[in-house]
Amino acid sequence: MASLPLSPLSSLAGKRLLLGISAGIAAYKSALIVRLLKQAGCEVRVVMTEGAQAFITPLTLQALSGEPVRTSLLDPEAEAGMGHIELARWADAILIAPATADLMARLVHGMADDLLTTLCLASDAPKLMAPAMNQAMWRHPATQRNVAQLAADGWQLIGPAAGDQACGDVGPGRMSEPEAVVNAVAHHFKPTTLAQPSAPHIVITAGPTREALDPVRYLSNHSSGKMGYALAAQATAQGARVTLISGPVNLPTPQGVERIDVETAAQMHQEALRLAPQAAMFIGCAAVADYRAASAAEHKIKKTDDSNTLTLTLVKNPDIIADVAALPASTRPFVVGFAAETQDLAHYAEDKLTRKGLDMIVANDVSQQGQGFGSDDNAALLLWRAPSGTEQLAAPHQTKNQLATLIIHQALSLLSTPLLEL
Ligand code: PMT
Repeated sequence: MASLPLSPLSSLAGKRLLLGISAGIAAYKSALIVRLLKQAGCEVRVVMTEGAQAFITPLTLQALSGEPVRTSLLDPEAEAGMGHIELARWADAILIAPATADLMARLVHGMADDLLTTLCLASDAPKLMAPAMNQAMWRHPATQRNVAQLAADGWQLIGPAAGDQACGDVGPGRMSEPEAVVNAVAHHFKPTTLAQPSAPHIVITAGPTREALDPVRYLSNHSSGKMGYALAAQATAQGARVTLISGPVNLPTPQGVERIDVETAAQMHQEALRLAPQAAMFIGCAAVADYRAASAAEHKIKKTDDSNTLTLTLVKNPDIIADVAALPASTRPFVVGFAAETQDLAHYAEDKLTRKGLDMIVANDVSQQGQGFGSDDNAALLLWRAPSGTEQLAAPHQTKNQLATLIIHQALSLLSTPLLEL
């Protein structure tokens, strides 16, 4: 696999970071985050919620950051030093680690009921958070709605990781390790442009394919390309270098995206296998025709008077994503497929995840009105392989742009976590 490079921490030198800590058991990891940030030359100021102080003392963080720790909005002494608006302006970025489900919900609603939420509202600085909570809380539709809204509001989510939890459960929700959090912040400060070789390269297929029957007719489907184009736009927004292999659609190319137009499954297959071995990630969102005519007629097929039927012989197209997933380990990217289903989403998606050898799959119910083919909205079930088995995340009905943010975020964190946490 063409690897996602480890972010050198040099981009953190001289940066001013406001670290918010909320009330989760993972707060003990925040001390190491402060230490790593300071070692990288970052100026760190810590703000703690009231609950966070039950898990780790302000004194520990004061000693590590070398700065007084702020805990209250209504502290005249602290306000006499650097007032909260000044503090909000001071920050080059805000990082919240850990971010609890409660804090995320409050941020979604624009609450300003303590110092940390007030600073988040008052600051224009880029914002990152590392969620941490019990796996059932993370999977809950309310939290997932909040995740989608926070991503849409511009928050960059780091993790969460999956695995053993402090409460004894196993699953997604554990805060990413401090090294991974600090790497993600450093990565954020690195300028990412199309030309930057260190940005992960993501290859995405989108739209339908067209399989000619004769010079004027073809087999195809209703894919508009909207889901794949939203993925390309969001992946670019999250810092990736994106190549879009597109079937015939009526959509403008998202800014900063390299687009390759194809028509048939065979052409898409050829481009995918040319590009995938150099990519960090491959996402197959295209609705590829499973079959094509055994031989397309050279001239228009004529209607005949002697028969009411026309028999076509179709042959199977190559399975593009399965072939990408079967690349040798040294060149194989992280592979994300889609599953267009009309029933029993989880069962069929898990079957495709295994059968096609994918790392993650996004299953959408294309029988529902207002989502799937052609619409601006979608809902999906994300499934991915984890050491403990298959993990899943239900993403409720939302715009394709919002869903794309969530999919890219999840895929990038699965791709980068093991590398970053080395
Ligand atoms: O384009 P939109 O109008 O926005 O609609 C979005 C969508 C519904 C097309 C999209 O969300 C979606 O579900 N895309 C996958 C459609 C599909 O072909 O699903 P499938 O279950 O038949 O295929 C499973 C996976 O195998 C997909 O990743 C597909 O790209 C891939 N595949 C399928 C056949 C084939 N010959 N080669 C493949 O790579």
